[in-house]
Amino acid sequence: MQVPPQANTNPNAKSNPRILILGAGVAGITAARTLYRNGHHNFLVIEARDEIGGRLRSHTFGNGTTIELGANWVQGTQVGDGPSNPIWDLARKHNARTVFNDYSSITTYDGSGLVNYTNVVDDAADNLDKISRLAGKRVADNLVDLNAREGYSLVGAKPQSSHDKVAEYFNFDWEYGDTPSATSLAAAGLVRVSQGTFSDEARLSIDQRGFKVIITAEAKEFLRPSQLLLSSTVRTIGYARSGVRVTLANGTLIFGDYVLCTFSLGVLQNDDVRFEPELPDWKMEAIQSVTMTTYTKVFLQFSRKFCWDFMPTRKEDAILHGAASPSTHRIFLLTLDSPKGQYSERIEALPDQQVQSEVMGVLHSMFPKTDIPPPSDFFFPRWHSDPLYRGSYSNWPASFTREHHDNLRASIGCGKRKRLWFAGEATSLRYFGTFSFLMLSVIY
Ligand SMILES: Cc1cc2nc3c(=O)[nH]c(=O)nc-3n(C[C@H](O)[C@H](O)[C@H](O)COP(=O)(O)OP(=O)(O)OC[C@H]3O[C@@H](n4cnc5c(N)ncnc54)[C@H](O)[C@@H]3O)c2cc1C
Ligand SMILES: *[C@@H]1O[C@H](CO)[C@@H](O)[C@H](O)[C@H]1NC(C)=O
Ligand SMILES: *[C@@H]1O[C@H](CO)[C@@H](O)[C@H](O)[C@H]1NC(C)=O
Ligand SMILES: *[C@@H]1O[C@H](CO)[C@@H](O)[C@H](O)[C@H]1NC(C)=O
Repeated sequence: MQVPPQANTNPNAKSNPRILILGAGVAGITAARTLYRNGHHNFLVIEARDEIGGRLRSHTFGNGTTIELGANWVQGTQVGDGPSNPIWDLARKHNARTVFNDYSSITTYDGSGLVNYTNVVDDAADNLDKISRLAGKRVADNLVDLNAREGYSLVGAKPQSSHDKVAEYFNFDWEYGDTPSATSLAAAGLVRVSQGTFSDEARLSIDQRGFKVIITAEAKEFLRPSQLLLSSTVRTIGYARSGVRVTLANGTLIFGDYVLCTFSLGVLQNDDVRFEPELPDWKMEAIQSVTMTTYTKVFLQFSRKFCWDFMPTRKEDAILHGAASPSTHRIFLLTLDSPKGQYSERIEALPDQQVQSEVMGVLHSMFPKTDIPPPSDFFFPRWHSDPLYRGSYSNWPASFTREHHDNLRASIGCGKRKRLWFAGEATSLRYFGTFSFLMLSVIY
């Protein structure tokens, strides 16, 4: 594409270039804040949805409880005056209400109901530590990457029984959003080391303003209404020597000097947004060589407690988890015999009613002697089929290299200037993705 001459009409392009920031998620708003803090106010944030937040997204459920469809945890806080997780800084600054989450306190079930195999879960946690150490050593020795399944085998972890497999799933798949065989051993080790930099603590947001408050409140401090364009879907991103040009779905053209794209990896992998000219091969290869996973939370509300009474432990529990006030207990149920892989994609294609009855089937097998009331509310987000996300977050397969990663982040030059820039979850070397895959969050 040739950007028409209008693009060049900014007389201040040299001293005060105009920057288009695409996406008002955490990355887009943080980028705007960085510009603002550096005294640069000539930017415009363009967002398809009618609110700021992106994958920080809440939903009013049941009798008015706010639930989180996307990110819900602050993964790591701070130890003493050590490094602090910037998400934790935002949560503290804006008084987001969070509770401590103890994953080591869990109650285990299998197809026959309540069965205690927490020792197997502990062993699986040790095995994850072992492969992380192995990963670190192999990276230091400059050895070729393996997948995490091969890593497990090398440290002698070969899950045989269904309990072994569930325990590994809880430790690994739930964290990386993918199976060990589909995940890079090196990257799996890197994520664990990175998360531990802040602290091992995970805190769950139960803020009724929604977890997104950490970024909406932050934006209020500096972003002027004229610097934010909501309900504006980007269709094409044009870049040329003379400047950049973004086309919205309604045909409006927006010109600038630089463009920063923070759309999810899933959006970049699909054809929802077109680049003009097409992205170079090295960029396309980097984009297509990372995996966009989907982690689906399924929410049910019940009019009365039915399983709590059967649980040996009540609070701070990963499968049974009590949060804050008695009316917002959340139970995280890991389906013990769920079909692996593509689960989210499969259920997204089904009608709600069918998903609900599958989930109820899992509950009936966990609580075989219990009369379970029908849920009074039911909801789950379809992240995979949403054209603004196309999944939940990124994961590295074993074939992914550091060069790919550098290329994923790299900006694209046009003549002397780098006009097209990239940011967002997938472009972070140490903090890409997060954790979790299939979770049933039961709320009453
Ligand atoms: C289910 C789920 C659970 C998660 N759990 C956690 C967690 O517990 N802890 C944690 O730390 N992280 C978690 N994450 C990851 C975290 O949410 C993301 O890493 C983070 O929010 C990504 O921010 P971002 O700004 O990079 O991308 P996004 O939030 O995706 O921002 C990109 C923005 O671009 C917009 N956009 C996309 N396409 C277009 C278009 N064509 N035109 C205009 N606008 C467009 C989108 O609407 C979006 O607002 C989770 C994510 C999901 C989905
Ligand atoms: C399960 O067994 C472990 C020992 O393997 C024990 O420490 C724990 O208390 C038991 N948990 C429950 C809920 O009984
Ligand atoms: C198209 O969208 C933009 C941004 O949302 C808006 O300013 C403009 O008025 C819209 N144009 C038309 C023709 O609807
Ligand atoms: C929801 O509210 C209605 C009316 O306020 C009440 O009758 C009902 O029991 C509540 N349901 C739950 C699950 O709390």
